[in-house]
Amino acid sequence: HFDIDRELRRSILINAGLSLAGFFATVKLIPVASRYVLRRNLFGYDINKKGTPQGTVKVPESLGIAVGIVYLVLAIVFQYFNFTADSNWLVEYNAALASICFMILLGFTDDVLDVPWRVKLILPSFAALPLLMAYAGHTTIIIPKPLIPYVGMEILDLGWIYKLYMGLLAVFCTNSINIHAGLNGLEVGQTVVIAAAILLHNIIQIGASKDPEYMQAHAFSIYLVQPMLATSLALLSYNWYPSSVFVGDTYTYFAGMTMAVVGILGHYSETLLIFFLPQILNFLLSLPQLAGFVKCPRHRLPRFDPQSGLLTGTNDGTLVNFFLRAFGQKTEKSLCILLLLFQAMACGFCFLLRWLLAGWYK
Ligand code: UD1
Ligand code: MG
Repeated sequence: HFDIDRELRRSILINAGLSLAGFFATVKLIPVASRYVLRRNLFGYDINKKGTPQGTVKVPESLGIAVGIVYLVLAIVFQYFNFTADSNWLVEYNAALASICFMILLGFTDDVLDVPWRVKLILPSFAALPLLMAYAGHTTIIIPKPLIPYVGMEILDLGWIYKLYMGLLAVFCTNSINIHAGLNGLEVGQTVVIAAAILLHNIIQIGASKDPEYMQAHAFSIYLVQPMLATSLALLSYNWYPSSVFVGDTYTYFAGMTMAVVGILGHYSETLLIFFLPQILNFLLSLPQLAGFVKCPRHRLPRFDPQSGLLTGTNDGTLVNFFLRAFGQKTEKSLCILLLLFQAMACGFCFLLRWLLAGWYK
């Protein structure tokens, strides 16, 4: 136990060092990449600043591509330093990277070609294929103690249904982040909060466990999530209000897929879904428009009032609008901060819930 502890700590620290280097590399790369995407007319107008000089500025789009490239390089190089590697894990690690890489490709394709909404929705199910095909882990779920008498067993093997669930999780994580958007800093901000919660969760789990395989699973989550957190922080420094770059669907899909993958390989997708509480609420509020019962415009953003400089909620079903109606008009920046606080509260709630229910799975 002592040895694996030391080896894991060493791998995690090296991963942290690589991630720090990745942060600075991304900070350097984004301004360069911005010039290149603008040259190719890949830009967006900052809609919430209509009527101000800022609103008509062309903001470079899809800078998620810079994050994605740095991330992949880090994650690939890191394998050299994983001292506890066993071949089984390495197969899944590389399958995870293939899925993330495929997702970046499809996200960038979407940014360049602007594919229709229905197609957009299913792109992640293709990107998840490498992981689903290579996945050799168990397909069982542990029944919570109070439910065992009703289900009649302690462990339930779901077989292929479990793989279907993994695919759906990838579709949900990617799209739900992509549609909880439209404020400067919100797409990356929510990712940074959730990624930090995932990192903390993994550290707590490793510290509390004595089972080497369980510790390994959570360590692998850390190897994948730490570089994402670091490179995302670099992106946030440019995307924060007032944005000098936009992240693009390249980034939202990349972020969602990475979190889905770590939740799957770390076997804590239920915990992950509680971290995603704001995204679930936003998804439920969006359902009438997503399903086509209510007209869904290309952009569902709040209305900006140039006189007061404040945002007002519209009739579109989004959490952004819900917050504006509940708490009154806000500036774009303070609304984003409020939504990120809510995200942090959801993560805190998840830790509390896990602590309260700990006995259910023992
Ligand atoms: C999703 C949302 C859409 C929302 C958009 C905003 C659904 C079904 N889709 O679409 O309603 O309007 O995200 O990101 O809910 N933009 C800003 N300010 C920002 C961020 C983005 O004005 O802080 C605008 C820019 O013009 C930018 C564009 O949104 O170019 C990017 O939109 P994109 O990510 O392509 O939209 P979707 O993901 O398709
Ligand atoms: Mg988007």
